[in-house]
Amino acid sequence: MQEKYHIVTYGCQMNVHESEKIASILRRVGYEQAPTIENADIIVFNTCCIRENAENHAFGNIGALKKMKKRNPRLIIAVGGCMTQEKGKTEILKKKFPFIDIMFGALNFEELETLIVRKKQEKKRVIEIREAAGEIVESVEPYRTSYPNAWVNITYGCNNFCSYCIVPYVRGRERSRKPEYILAEVRSLVEQGYKEITLLGQNVNSYGADGSTGMSFAELLDAVASIEGNFRVRFMTSHPKDFTEDVVRVMEKHRKICRLVHLPVQSGSNEILREMNRRYTREKYLGEIEMLRSRLPEAEVTTDIIVGFPRETEEDYLQTEALVKEVDFASAFTFVYSPRQGTRAATMENQVPEDVQKDRIMRLVALVNALTRKKSEKYLGKTVEILCEDYDEKKGLYLGRDEFGRMGYFQSETDKIGEFVRLKITKANGISLYGEIVE
Ligand code: 5AD
Ligand code: SF4
Repeated sequence: MQEKYHIVTYGCQMNVHESEKIASILRRVGYEQAPTIENADIIVFNTCCIRENAENHAFGNIGALKKMKKRNPRLIIAVGGCMTQEKGKTEILKKKFPFIDIMFGALNFEELETLIVRKKQEKKRVIEIREAAGEIVESVEPYRTSYPNAWVNITYGCNNFCSYCIVPYVRGRERSRKPEYILAEVRSLVEQGYKEITLLGQNVNSYGADGSTGMSFAELLDAVASIEGNFRVRFMTSHPKDFTEDVVRVMEKHRKICRLVHLPVQSGSNEILREMNRRYTREKYLGEIEMLRSRLPEAEVTTDIIVGFPRETEEDYLQTEALVKEVDFASAFTFVYSPRQGTRAATMENQVPEDVQKDRIMRLVALVNALTRKKSEKYLGKTVEILCEDYDEKKGLYLGRDEFGRMGYFQSETDKIGEFVRLKITKANGISLYGEIVE
């Protein structure tokens, strides 16, 4: 009988996509996907370390496998991703969980195949973590399970060193993929029938900034959107310090590019932005929103916000609230600042007390939810184009997203997954829309 794998993924889209590559490696070794974690012969954890709670989740879930490992000593447990790449974390994981069989880093997950072979031969624990990123590996074709959506990396790593962020330490310096690989991948995906392509990078705007690609992000986006076929293009994440008009001009040129920009602002206070080492001001950010909307009035913006950063006063926080209202974000991911060892912010004085952080996050979430709900209501009676992604068994409805990422549910007698459908919106429920297909 063929052996089976199960992957547990934490964190961002980048990690979700990386797990598609890990799946591909496991299949190459000869494993097939397990129906549930209990049926697996190998369990791989792709961890995240961006905030403490992501790490706590992983610790909890890995710990829970001790019993399973006792019942089935042949089960292989492998742990990789951002956490194992963090200074000192490998030692902690090693001590805390002696039953982990394989440990690999975020910078060398491509080596998993050899590590598994070694583990099977050597019988003892195999640990291989690399300090620095090597050349970009182009030979792992992801095993995609997200049809009709496909993610495509354009850069890896990050050079920005925002003072709160651990990413540059665990993912290394920014590397851009060569345009020919990216374009070939997108062409192939479109030929296979994928309908939504999302270009991924920690800071897509600095694509090729090191001169290694001969192309800027705007040029790459133009080339991707020029590929023939019926598909949408998205990109994330944009960085306000580098977000420029040439990208918006390319958006104007191609209707294929969704009119949605994910532009993390992090804070509305210039003092806090400076402490965060974000290298833009509130005024610059608002100027970019204005530029975007002057060219594309229908454009929507989503964002990331951190509250309770060291030294954040009530006044600073209120400036974030004011900015949120002014921009009128389509939605926002909101986070409580989490100190990460090794980052500059973790050593800063005047860390904000937990009760103050909690109070601010609750107020901010309430504000963001109110804005999102209001936007949902505006959809009532309108007709929108949805890319159908899935079928919700519980609701008995198909679902998909419009170009702004808004989820829409609808009924259909025939399978619509992978099709663009036009929905007349009849109900708006918080963030979700409900509608009927119109021809
Ligand atoms: N604490 C809280 N939020 C963080 N983010 C990154 N690092 C931290 C941290 N230490 C948030 C930022 C980023 C998003 C991916 O995660 O808002 O944009
Ligand atoms: Fe972290 Fe800043 Fe890089 Fe984003 S841009 S990954 S927040 S260092």
